[in-house]
Amino acid sequence: MVSKMGIEQCNNIGDFKRMAKRRLPSPLFHYIEGGADDEVSLRANTSDFNRCRLIPDALAGVTGVDLSTTVLGHKIDWPVFLAPTGMSRLFHHDGEFAAARAAHIAGTIYSLSTLSTVSIEDIGRATPGPKCFQIYIHKDREMTYDFVDRCKEANFTSLCLTVDTPVAGNRERDLVTGMTVPPKLTLASLMSFALHFNWSYNFLTHEKFQMANIVGASKNAMQDLSSVIDYVNAQFDPSINWGDAEKLISRWGGPFAIKGIMSVSDALKAVDVGASAIMISNHGGRQLDGCVTPFEMLPAIADAVGDKLEIILDGGVQRGSHVLKARALGATACSIGRGYVYPLAAGGQPAVQHALQRLRDEIERNMVLMGCTRLDQVTAEKVTQPKF
Ligand SMILES: Cc1cc2nc3c(=O)[nH]c(=O)nc-3n(C[C@H](O)[C@H](O)[C@H](O)COP(=O)(O)O)c2cc1C
Repeated sequence: MVSKMGIEQCNNIGDFKRMAKRRLPSPLFHYIEGGADDEVSLRANTSDFNRCRLIPDALAGVTGVDLSTTVLGHKIDWPVFLAPTGMSRLFHHDGEFAAARAAHIAGTIYSLSTLSTVSIEDIGRATPGPKCFQIYIHKDREMTYDFVDRCKEANFTSLCLTVDTPVAGNRERDLVTGMTVPPKLTLASLMSFALHFNWSYNFLTHEKFQMANIVGASKNAMQDLSSVIDYVNAQFDPSINWGDAEKLISRWGGPFAIKGIMSVSDALKAVDVGASAIMISNHGGRQLDGCVTPFEMLPAIADAVGDKLEIILDGGVQRGSHVLKARALGATACSIGRGYVYPLAAGGQPAVQHALQRLRDEIERNMVLMGCTRLDQVTAEKVTQPKF
């Protein structure tokens, strides 16, 4: 158990990452931290925020700060929400429950992955807060449409379709550690599981690990499931196109984001098929390495479609200043992946709550330092032009 004291000493996402590293068997830590190939895009996602600087106003008479914004059909208390991340119960036995409850307490949206270890129905019951379901189009279309109907029944408030995973990215750390499901572990990896007794004890003494949305949904879906990578490559449909996205949007009929948009032309197509939002995202650097970063593409995409749909920036966000830079350049909100998965691994729900509160405090403090009381005052004039 990570003590409460330990969690409270974590001031930022980097601190939680160090704590997660200590607490997790190394194959799991590398699964979270890792990116594709040489991890160039993974690193650039965060470092690109340094390509522009904030320009504060002095003597602005700031008396209070309102961080609320409306995204995916909901007014949230601050402009950050939780991105979908698969298999959370590998990282902490409370898994998706812990993250969803922490998001609700923090006044924001939780996104549940198709590849989650708690079902749509259970998360639907877990909190009354706004929830987004992340969908992958499977070769088994019936199962895909069934997800949409299950989300309606379970009171999910929005859907996002991930389009950057026609095949799984090449995450070489996982090949080295044998981080597959079930694991094909090397001796070093096995030693790491044995040495992380608390994690192993909790894993073995809590409910069986499974892909909760898929188990029982389709017999085809589980055939030859030997790893997430194998699952993605076997079951996701690489031939999906804009027509498939359009069908899903009309079947859902509510707030709908397309996640993984990285170009102006695709952003325009998202408008054409009727999406209400896009998530500019390279999957946290886990898919196509060497591709552009979300922050790099944000100004051009915002210029083209910013008045037509909501823009969510997803990737590399670790600091409050990153969120303000994204807002200044046209994002409605940001979503974070590792930024809450590390705290989850470090200490479950209390740690995620603490991490979200720290990030929110940073945004609020920076707003005061910038001389802004509302997010709509954080405009392009409040940053230098990013240079790439
Ligand atoms: C451990 C992990 C699992 C993820 N699983 C999914 C997933 O199942 N579906 C999805 O669309 N994105 C998934 N992502 C990508 C996130 O939704 C998000 O795009 C990414 O984490 C953002 O980058 P950041 O981690 O730098 O915040 C995952 C990311 C991580 C780190």
